[in-house]
Amino acid sequence: MCGIIGYTGPLSARKILLEGLSQLEYRGYDSAGIACVEDGAAVRVTKTTGKVAELKKLCQNDREETHCGIGHTRWATHGGVTRENAHPHQAGRVTLIHNGIIENYHQLTKEYHLEGKLVSQTDSEVAAWVLDSLYDGDPKAAIRRFVEKLEGSYGFCILFADRPGEIYAIRRVSPLVAAYTRAGSIIASDLTALIPYTKKYMVVPEDQIVKLTPYQVRVFDLDGRETQPEILEVNWDTDAAMKNGFPHFMLKEIHEQPEALKNTILPRISKGMPDFSDDGIPDEVFKQCSQVHIVACGTAMHAGMVARALMEPLLRVPVSVSIASEFRYEDPLIDEKTLTIIISQSGETIDTLAAMRLAKEAGSKTLAVVNVKGSTIARESDFVLYTHAGPEIAVASTKAYSVQLAALYLIICRMAYVRGKMSGEESAAFVKDLLDVIPAMEAMIRRKEEIRQMVRPLVEKPDAFFIGRNLDYAFSLEGALKLKEISYIHADAYAAGELKHGTIALISDEVPVIAIATQERIFAKSISNVREVKARGAYVILITKESAQADENLADVHIHIPDVHDRFTVFPIAVVLQLIAYYASLLKGLDVDQPRNLAKSVTVE
Ligand code: M6R
Repeated sequence: MCGIIGYTGPLSARKILLEGLSQLEYRGYDSAGIACVEDGAAVRVTKTTGKVAELKKLCQNDREETHCGIGHTRWATHGGVTRENAHPHQAGRVTLIHNGIIENYHQLTKEYHLEGKLVSQTDSEVAAWVLDSLYDGDPKAAIRRFVEKLEGSYGFCILFADRPGEIYAIRRVSPLVAAYTRAGSIIASDLTALIPYTKKYMVVPEDQIVKLTPYQVRVFDLDGRETQPEILEVNWDTDAAMKNGFPHFMLKEIHEQPEALKNTILPRISKGMPDFSDDGIPDEVFKQCSQVHIVACGTAMHAGMVARALMEPLLRVPVSVSIASEFRYEDPLIDEKTLTIIISQSGETIDTLAAMRLAKEAGSKTLAVVNVKGSTIARESDFVLYTHAGPEIAVASTKAYSVQLAALYLIICRMAYVRGKMSGEESAAFVKDLLDVIPAMEAMIRRKEEIRQMVRPLVEKPDAFFIGRNLDYAFSLEGALKLKEISYIHADAYAAGELKHGTIALISDEVPVIAIATQERIFAKSISNVREVKARGAYVILITKESAQADENLADVHIHIPDVHDRFTVFPIAVVLQLIAYYASLLKGLDVDQPRNLAKSVTVE
């Protein structure tokens, strides 16, 4: 959940670290710090609570030249948000930054008699002291003994006081990427910090030690043998990770959705049909399975809910959706005829990764829908379908959601075709309908001002409900999550027919209801539910298709989306729901891109 960066080379380390931390800030923004090797060898730590901007203020008068250092932006796990708990941590000759959780830090504190030494409440400082006590001048040997002692997940970047100009790193689960560039050697938790300097990088292999010097990046296994990790290349540049004139990343990413959809869909269409040959996914994967588990967290899980609502009726195989953090405690039924579809933008979400490993162990084939190339989930899954959304920086997921849906729709179509549930013609018509959503999304993006106006009454209220039936209910879940995470308005989604079984007691003129009714076969029933909440005084925002026949006085605001096929309404609806949340946050004067308590990648359980 934290952002990590290390640099050694001819340029100003302080400048590179601070700029890199700004790029990585979406990974965590409770506090930030850097450690720079100055004056030959002294390691100087500057850290503070708050955002990277606070750290930059603290550093603005630092004139000392520095060419080697490490930096960290924190999302608190162990210990509150205090300067002491901010990274880097220093212990004797060791200065380190850490992303992850050391689960056995209590035992280590006792074993190494650290009680009187610790100045923070963090597991990371305990790790620093343990490493210092194992260090006898040979960094690799000390790190080898160090990781034998650790339980949990970690990405560490380490400076040893007697090794100026060198940075050591190791990871288990938590991500790290590294590169040697003409500007020096650089390592980070995320590519966004590397791309200003290079497009070529390596994913640091788990349990291998990385040594960065100004001249090279070398990697060693725990037996000391040098290894040669594969060099990968990113296909996006710095522009993709900048706001480019938009006031917020979220708005920019909402606008990028039509293009991202084209990038995800078009390369996979051959003769009008979905085709995964270039992705290396054989049809047998789809033909042979007798059940499908979809596993993911948050927004990605909501994309899975939409997929399930389409998949099961079409394919006539059991399809379940699980929250990844619950999956392994559900004791799921898995066998070698199970297909587990894993959905993750980052490809690093720890619960999703753990669920995927469990499914694989139990014999399931795994197919991951992932945005970040080379991420852990992508590497470990049997098959990967990359979405091509480019970097998503805003914490609230927008374009990642729509491309996940696009990828899932392609999977559904191919699966239905190879299982004989759709003819070639029907599959081609499905793909055509899918492509039609692109202009529909563009049309909704163009209407953003209308949505901004409509949101005003919402922001004065503490609560909101989203209601819908069947597919519309699956969309509602995502609408409610978006609204609560960035506007802090308490929002919940309900299956519209379920309201009468309790929740309607909460409806009053103080509670706005966003009702989604885009499915023709249940339209009348959904509208009856809208009448029920309206009769109890709710301020109703109704979203239907253009052609839907609804009494114009039924709702306070009626938004029409273009007439795409019922199966595909999620795409323009997603834009409306994202814009509702965006403008609610904006009108409340909140931090749209970095809402409180959150971080982009959830790499701790
Ligand atoms: O990277 P992932 O797709 O695995 O992340 C899963 C969730 O943490 C994520 O979708 C989260 O719910 C969204 N950022 C919320 O907008």
